Amino acid sequence: MEKTTTIGFIGAGNMAYALISGLIDGGFSAQNIKVSDKNATLLSQREIDFGIETFSDNTQLANQCEVIVFAVKPQILATVCKELQAHIIHKPLIISIVAGAKSTSIAHWLGWAPIVRAMPNTPALLGMGATGMMANEAVSAEQKVLTEQILGSVGKCFWVANEQMLDAVTALSGSGPAYFFLMIEAMAHTGTALGLNEETAKQLSIQTALGASMMADQSEGSPYQLRAKVTSKNGTTQAAIESFQNQDFEAVVARAMRSAFDRAQKIGFELDNE
Ligand SMILES: NC(=O)c1ccc[n+]([C@@H]2O[C@H](COP(=O)([O-])OP(=O)(O)OC[C@H]3O[C@@H](n4cnc5c(N)ncnc54)[C@H](OP(=O)(O)O)[C@@H]3O)[C@@H](O)[C@H]2O)c1
Repeated sequence: MEKTTTIGFIGAGNMAYALISGLIDGGFSAQNIKVSDKNATLLSQREIDFGIETFSDNTQLANQCEVIVFAVKPQILATVCKELQAHIIHKPLIISIVAGAKSTSIAHWLGWAPIVRAMPNTPALLGMGATGMMANEAVSAEQKVLTEQILGSVGKCFWVANEQMLDAVTALSGSGPAYFFLMIEAMAHTGTALGLNEETAKQLSIQTALGASMMADQSEGSPYQLRAKVTSKNGTTQAAIESFQNQDFEAVVARAMRSAFDRAQKIGFELDNE
């Protein structure tokens, strides 16, 4: 796939910054990337950051782009779409990373067809994101490949079957970084309670999470096999794992993720009825 498609970002904030960095690092030319925002200071900053063209008018940007990425906050999205609907003649591919906003609502506000809805997560800011995405039936195979290039520029991305699965993605990887932060926090606190210096406990906890993730990523074995390998009979790890399991660790995780899933559905419903 050629990297000459013109890609326009509406909203120049954190996620746009991450994606534009990823695209430029991945070989897309700054000449083909554009961004619009209402914040003039931020736009000047993006010109300095990337040498890209910036716009204060979303429709002017949209008229020059083959792909438009919506990177504004959810409460702004309907206004942005209606603004475009009145002024855009061509039908660019829309990639929306806006949390909770359904592709059907976007299609309704815009009156256009090809829409990808995606849910990235915050490690995207470091190029380590995990993104779930779904396409409506108007998105072509070529547009899907292009979407993979754009969202894959900040980490790994995966297609899911339908809109509801994006709520599952939200409950898993969207909110997931916070679950691991909680685990890191709890382990560091306990390390301190067991007598370690606070900073040492924190660093050991962070490095352990990082090392375990990298092992899970790079090893041929499943997480279960990796765990079995480090759990010797009557050893320290077995004592800790048994304690987790006696308190129904899997059920605790399942309940937490179901709460996130239910909340994502409710937020989507509320946005839909705005
Ligand atoms: N951050 C994440 O990890 C993450 C993960 C998944 C999904 N998302 C989604 O990604 C979207 C963007 O998040 P973000 O963290 O990048 O937000 P952000 O940093 O607040 O960026 C949004 C930008 O849009 C600007 N804006 C406001 N009204 C506008 C308009 N009418 N036209 C053009 N630009 C306008 C904002 O300007 P002002 O600040 O002046 O209003 C701001 O600069 C959100 O919908 C969020 O749900 C984020």
